[in-house]
Amino acid sequence: MTVPARVIDLRSDTVTLPTPAMREAMVRAVVGDDVMGEDPTVKELETYAASLFGMDAALYVPSGTMANQAAIRAWCRNGDEALVVSDAHVFYYEAGSAAGLNGVQLHLVPCRNGDFDLSDFEVRIRPASDPHFPLTRLFWIENTHNRGGGTIVPLVKMRQLHALGRRMNIPVHVDGARLANASVATGIPLDEWAAHCDSLSLCLSKGLGAPVGSILAGSGEFITRCRRARKALGGGMRQAGIIAAAGLYALQNNIERLAVDHRRAQELAAMLRSVPGYSVPDRVDTNILMVDLDPSVPIDAAELQRRLERHGVKLYSVKPRPVRAVFHLNLEDDAVDIAAHAFKEALKNG
Ligand SMILES: Cc1ncc(COP(=O)(O)O)c(C=O)c1O
Repeated sequence: MTVPARVIDLRSDTVTLPTPAMREAMVRAVVGDDVMGEDPTVKELETYAASLFGMDAALYVPSGTMANQAAIRAWCRNGDEALVVSDAHVFYYEAGSAAGLNGVQLHLVPCRNGDFDLSDFEVRIRPASDPHFPLTRLFWIENTHNRGGGTIVPLVKMRQLHALGRRMNIPVHVDGARLANASVATGIPLDEWAAHCDSLSLCLSKGLGAPVGSILAGSGEFITRCRRARKALGGGMRQAGIIAAAGLYALQNNIERLAVDHRRAQELAAMLRSVPGYSVPDRVDTNILMVDLDPSVPIDAAELQRRLERHGVKLYSVKPRPVRAVFHLNLEDDAVDIAAHAFKEALKNG
């Protein structure tokens, strides 16, 4: 077997490296002590992000996980309950921090690829007058939905949940790590999505290509609570303008190009539809493609992953699917052909 000339890394959109122009912005950044509120570049990023979402205020935090935990801490108290779509990152991949760090119980709401029935939220709201129950303090959705395969939760669903939340006095938080993907794919601007929730996050270090950081946005009062939560969680950073400059560059330059990632994910899906042994979803909303192995194929996800890597393509297996391909800014157009070829070879020649 020949050694692949080049390795295509489709494990995640977090593997992107800063471009020369982004590094240049970092070098030029004017910085100060952000814990003292004196970093002009962090302030510029936060102001820019707030205006992008049409929200009162925004906060720069080191990671998507910290954005999620700071939001939970800002909305809930110990012993409260948050209603969270099943399979959400905050439930699955954050080391149990909602409970471990914030003392908040997550009550899962069934969903299909992030999409949900409003009634499944409604029936889970606890009667606040009965001391047996925790207080339902927060609704939580994820858009796009990572484990669902980058699927978009329709705006109309967010609007309905927001209306229910208003009626019941329960805020809606959107883990919008990849909300920019939803915005580009639908043509619905970020502020329109943001109008149908009380708070949200956005990751700068995924498809947008910054090396570090996420944004939280919401009311001024919410962001003040998040700032305190960020400090409590160890996320107060000093001359953070160096990395915030990359985040600002990402927001100003890398949103529209997400369409390229979406096109490539759809092209790979189209190619794999005609390859015996694989099945892919009919609809590929954004930059993530989940690939299933047909039951007749006698290998499992781990073996498929090994074979693909031998053919120069790195992927993750994500249960219950065999593998997940994620398109991002560090790829060229030929990544689609290379990946399609590797998938074919993996079943033909091992
Ligand atoms: C939907 C979602 N939320 C939050 C995160 C966490 O981001 P980070 O890895 O920066 O902590 C991720 C990361 O993949 C994610 O996909």
